[in-house]
Amino acid sequence: MTNPQRTWGGRFEAGMDELTRDYTAGVDRDLYEHDIAGSVAHARMLGKAGIIPAEDAVAIVAGLAEVLADFRAQKVTWRPELEDIHTHVEALLREKIGDAAGRLHTARSRNDQVSLLNRLLVRQYCDEAIDAAADLIAVLADLGERHAADPMPGYTHVQRAQPITLGHHLLAYGEMLLRDRARFADCRRRLNVLPLGSGALAGSPYPLDREMVARELAFDGVSRNSLDATADRDFIAEFLAACAITQMHISRLAEEVVLWASAEFAFVKLPDAFATGSSMMPQKKNADVAELARGRTGRVYGELMNMLVNLKGQPLAYNRDLQEDKATVLNAAAVVLPTLRIFAAMVPALAFQLPRMRQAAGENFSLATDVADYLVKKGMPFRQAHEVVGGLVRACEQRGCELNALPFEAYAAASPLFERDILALDVDAALAARDIPGGTAPVRVRAAAAALRTALA
Ligand code: ARG
Repeated sequence: MTNPQRTWGGRFEAGMDELTRDYTAGVDRDLYEHDIAGSVAHARMLGKAGIIPAEDAVAIVAGLAEVLADFRAQKVTWRPELEDIHTHVEALLREKIGDAAGRLHTARSRNDQVSLLNRLLVRQYCDEAIDAAADLIAVLADLGERHAADPMPGYTHVQRAQPITLGHHLLAYGEMLLRDRARFADCRRRLNVLPLGSGALAGSPYPLDREMVARELAFDGVSRNSLDATADRDFIAEFLAACAITQMHISRLAEEVVLWASAEFAFVKLPDAFATGSSMMPQKKNADVAELARGRTGRVYGELMNMLVNLKGQPLAYNRDLQEDKATVLNAAAVVLPTLRIFAAMVPALAFQLPRMRQAAGENFSLATDVADYLVKKGMPFRQAHEVVGGLVRACEQRGCELNALPFEAYAAASPLFERDILALDVDAALAARDIPGGTAPVRVRAAAAALRTALA
């Protein structure tokens, strides 16, 4: 055996080329917490079931605690010849407790071990994403409530369309994030089965108590098929899809922050704490946080595509291709989690320019649909009302005025159904009129904010 520390040296005569060693290296060196947690549960079960001597199990569990402490204290030097985190932990354990360490890998393969490690890792990230999304949703619910009656222009095609409230707009993102949170919870629910006991691919000839290990590691059950359990990375694809959609939502919000902070919109002033300046232009204040959230979205999409393509050609069961999975998880989580967290801090610090937003909400004939609805309420078919109001908008454009500045005579000439109360139509009336579930009436926006909070609880 050329390398006594290698876990599979027995049938090899020659050593490994350094090129191979480096080429096959993974990115799991920081995942010791999860790997050791899995090994502790496995060793306890092996001892309890009498598969290894009880005193060896005790020594292994104690030794693993020391190894974990060394990792946490950053006392471990990574040795590339040891391949991955699994073999490092075993080698370090051997240094602590001697030959008994060799019993830890009884009834286990790195293939079910790494499936376990991945599940623990993704489960932890799902929990973090669920919490981080909840914090941002709570922030949006508060702002939605606070701005339930503050008007702003609503847009389609980036053209001013109809007045909405700022609260309504912000709560739209709350709804998106609530779905995102549910996607992470769903991913977590599905991944939460114990793969250990699947061996390399075919299961195990030992009388393992898989239920005991599952309980110890807080899994809801055990896998039913050893091939699937070792080759399945659906939960990673699902996690990455949830990450991609979440980041997409934040990217849309980020785009709005960038637009709103421009002089053209002037709907928000950026808080100093979340803006950056220019090295040349002394006056500049830029929305770099929002831009980077938008700019990093492609990385998350890329990891999802990476994983899907990685999986599509693999025959059952484990193939080394699967080692690439961890980088996708680590990379996506390293974008999405900090993005959720910084938005939860930044969004409440945005200084919304409410008078400017209110003024903009009433411009550009934003009440035209409401004028048409006025006629419909008096019996006119909507299509005809649309035509009539189109004519009024044309008249306004000629005079350079808004609809409510048009003289009543112009209305009367357009339709006998108009009465003087048409001139009282304003943004607040238009908002208040949308008083149905899902509408932008302030009372409905307040209810939606409350419902969002309830959904979080
Ligand atoms: N480092 C490997 C991975 O992350 C662990 C499993 C290796 N198994 C094997 N048969 N080479 O996927």
